[in-house]
Amino acid sequence: MKPKRIGITTGGGDAPGLNAVIRAVVKTAAIDYGAEVIGIEDGFDGLLRAGGVHTLTPGDVRGILPRGGTILGTASRGNPFARKVVQPDGATRVVDMSDEVLAAIVALNLDALIVIGGDGTLRIALELKHKGCPVVGVPKTIDNDVGGTEVTFGFDTALNTATEAIDKLHTTAESHHRAMVVELMGRDAGFLALHAGVAGGADVILIPELPFLFESVCRKVCERASRGSKFSILAVAEGAHPKGEDPIYSIAGDEVRVARLGGIGTLVGRIIGERCQTETRVTVLGHVQRGGGPTPFDRWLATRYGAAAVRLAMRGGFGRMVALQYSTITDIPLEEALAVPKRVDLSSDGMLTARGLGICFGD
Ligand code: F6P
Repeated sequence: MKPKRIGITTGGGDAPGLNAVIRAVVKTAAIDYGAEVIGIEDGFDGLLRAGGVHTLTPGDVRGILPRGGTILGTASRGNPFARKVVQPDGATRVVDMSDEVLAAIVALNLDALIVIGGDGTLRIALELKHKGCPVVGVPKTIDNDVGGTEVTFGFDTALNTATEAIDKLHTTAESHHRAMVVELMGRDAGFLALHAGVAGGADVILIPELPFLFESVCRKVCERASRGSKFSILAVAEGAHPKGEDPIYSIAGDEVRVARLGGIGTLVGRIIGERCQTETRVTVLGHVQRGGGPTPFDRWLATRYGAAAVRLAMRGGFGRMVALQYSTITDIPLEEALAVPKRVDLSSDGMLTARGLGICFGD
């Protein structure tokens, strides 16, 4: 029997295009199938508190297509399998509340649950599937690190933001004859730094997949100066790290919270300043990359993902994720999407192209 009541939730860090997915799900469910959509607030948290869910009608999603963020809210630390709960004595304990989440889904009569998230949230969706929940996944993240799909929605918008920032740094770098380091997001994947670096004409790109040597980076900056190019642009992924060393974290993780990367841009800037006698400035682009309205590409992709997720649920394709392959929307098992984290392929044409242009990767 086709689902009549579909739950929808957005989990993990937000990404431009979340609202476009929600809108497509609500409209497709209502118009194509006459089904009802129930919005769950703040990841899975909305299922664990009173008033955390509400019906979404096509009227409720009017005007949200170009809006960044998510009208449902999200939660980075909302794993129901490991929730920090404050005990009566004030102490905190990590508890598994997945049974409560499943009970809430049953109580709401949801016969499908569309989970929009990155690898962390999709992993939770898979665990819920193993416990009998009829989930369908939609791949979201500015990091573009979900397997089995050519691209996640949110990546293109973040790429535009990062490229625009590099363009702006270029003009001021040239005026002041400075080395400009820009630290970009991406966690353990270098897609954002690689694509924005190439698109913005960076001289050095440092990515987590390719540990670097400071000597090599400094050589590039010094060489440019000796050839008369008195400025340099360095796009540094937050997860990039020197050979033999760990990435730099600004905040340690725990059982609930993942460690937060940050600081490599500042280190690279300091070393270049010291060794190349070049005035250096560092920009940490941060959450600007996650904000703002989605690009037309992300609106298009997110809308296709949302509509395809409803069709997948209607076919009973639970435990699967919509994906883009060869420019066509398809679907794959969540296990397959999560089996191998997607990383920059060092022998890809993109890397060859970048190297051919003389971009230094610090190796
Ligand atoms: O996964 C998306 C992302 O923006 C990463 O690129 C970044 O490392 C992380 O989330 C930041 O998370 P938070 O919003 O918790 O600071």
